[in-house]
Amino acid sequence: MAKKKKQSSNALEVQNAAKTLFANIRFMSPDDPIKSIVVTSSVPNEGKSTCSVELARAIATSGKTALLVEADMRRRTLAGMLNVRPAAGAYSVLTDATPLGAAIATTTTPNLYFLDIEPNIPNPADILSSKRYRKLVGLLEDTYDYVVFDTPPVGTFVDAAILSTMVDGTVMVVKPNSTKRAELVDAYGQLKKADANVLGICATFCEGTGSEYYYAYYTSSGERVKAGEAASASSGHAALPDSRPARSAGHGSAAGRSASGARGSGRAASSQAANRAGYAGQADAAGRARR
Ligand SMILES: Nc1ncnc2c1ncn2[C@@H]1O[C@H](COP(=O)(O)OP(=O)(O)OP(=O)(O)O)[C@@H](O)[C@H]1O
Ligand SMILES: [Mg+2]
Repeated sequence: MAKKKKQSSNALEVQNAAKTLFANIRFMSPDDPIKSIVVTSSVPNEGKSTCSVELARAIATSGKTALLVEADMRRRTLAGMLNVRPAAGAYSVLTDATPLGAAIATTTTPNLYFLDIEPNIPNPADILSSKRYRKLVGLLEDTYDYVVFDTPPVGTFVDAAILSTMVDGTVMVVKPNSTKRAELVDAYGQLKKADANVLGICATFCEGTGSEYYYAYYTSSGERVKAGEAASASSGHAALPDSRPARSAGHGSAAGRSASGARGSGRAASSQAANRAGYAGQADAAGRARR
């Protein structure tokens, strides 16, 4: 019973964080709205798909239309997370086998739509690099208020870097105390090399820190101040919550600052091959389970 209560309060925290993330993305560029967003991370299992689903849900519940696109052709998870079974996916749209409208699935959340991808795509990077995929991205951007793409980790596969060049912005998901600094820096470097507009980082697995976490803010010197301590933060540097440099889940922070402050060394390279093999293995298992 207590465990159930904890799970639902964690889910609520994640939902609230996603709303904050969406708000931050919107306020980042009010004059030139960021409509299409790639969600990626440096290594597997940092919470990309969860973040993509929750961000798209947050957008949809705000009254805007959101399309969630399964762009992780290596390890598809979104259909299962949304509990939908579309009859066709992006591959049949790209090959003119299915009209786009027939491939788009509705979900239980009003305003939230989903475009899946077929299983066992042999050459994901080639598909993403094709003119047809780029054209599809443009069409989706014209049709929905927001389009969110879930992708594989950029430190493991090139897919997210390719897609990041076609969208307005890229969010890097980071699991604090798990992701290695070198891996994050390498991934950020790859995205920047591709000329991606990296919007910021979204820290995951931060729930359970209590609601006070969300009512704390940071001073301009980076100090964390709880709401009750605000009056005593008399340094004069206390930033308003709206202008705080964001640091946590849902606070789309300046990744440029965070990641470029760290020093990349290429040390992550050795773990990339291992990640790639593991990712493919798990994808096979997931594919078998779905079939
Ligand atoms: N913010 C979070 N707090 C707690 N658990 C989480 C959070 N985000 C994701 N998880 C859990 O972590 C696991 C991996 O999450 P998810 O599938 O979203 O990660 P991913 O980065 O998309 O993984 P992959 O690299 O395989 O695509 C899932 O069991 C999910 O429920
Ligand atoms: Mg995923």
